[in-house]
Amino acid sequence: MTEPHSSPAANGPATSDDAQPEGSAPTGVAYPKTIKSFVRRAGRTTTGQAKAFSELGPRFLLSYAPAPLDANAAFGRAAPLILEIGFGMGEATAHIARVRPDDNFLCCEVHEPGVGALLKRIGEQDITNIRILQHDAVEVLDHMLPPGSLDGVHIFFPDPWHKKKHNKRRLIQPPLVAKLAARLKPGGYIHCATDWQPYAEQMLEVLSAEALLSNTAEGYAPQPDYRPLTKFENRGLRLGHGVWDVVFVRRN
Ligand SMILES: C[S@@+](CC[C@H](N)C(=O)[O-])C[C@H]1O[C@@H](n2cnc3c(N)ncnc32)[C@H](O)[C@@H]1O
Repeated sequence: MTEPHSSPAANGPATSDDAQPEGSAPTGVAYPKTIKSFVRRAGRTTTGQAKAFSELGPRFLLSYAPAPLDANAAFGRAAPLILEIGFGMGEATAHIARVRPDDNFLCCEVHEPGVGALLKRIGEQDITNIRILQHDAVEVLDHMLPPGSLDGVHIFFPDPWHKKKHNKRRLIQPPLVAKLAARLKPGGYIHCATDWQPYAEQMLEVLSAEALLSNTAEGYAPQPDYRPLTKFENRGLRLGHGVWDVVFVRRN
């Protein structure tokens, strides 16, 4: 199946695609080994977000440390653990945490105003089952999450890195997918969504090629009911863009 489940003809959002790559090497020097999937964007933290940082940060922000995370201690309870990579301003994240109160959501984002925005939503919506790590999710995976520690992974509208020369920054590539699959429990899932058709095709190809994973659908998946239509997505749909979900599970 190659059609999006919503509407036809994708056109990706204008994102940080044109930004200068972080850590780009001087001419003639090999590209640094750790190619990041993000650039640190400048952004204004609002007064409300700053207030959320000081009031809610101590309870909901976790510190990055290169040591296995004790998730039960971090959340104050034992529950299935879902990792989200790149929650942006946290609109979908907060919604999902509310409709799935029995799951714990470990959410990584590097963009500070986004972290502030999610903290603000946590306060406004009385959410208790989110913890935030303001850090590169790839390092979190490498150093804080042991094999078999996750019940699910959410990657929604990751930066599409439209230009060919930037494609190497895309998150969904074989090495990262292999890491994610290894950290899932048997039966655990990876759910990705994108509005950029070439990236949707890449997601399907890379996830299909990972031996530990199997597709839950014939190609693209119907949009799972817990993932809301965000403002960003609604605007895209109005403009005639498509959206594709892919959902794979870890084999036993
Ligand atoms: C295009 S935005 C999408 C945000 C959100 N998921 C949504 O659907 O609106 C992608 C986000 O992923 C974040 N991101 C990219 N790579 C990341 C990484 N390795 N670790 C944490 N966050 C990352 C970026 O900072 C950015 O905010």
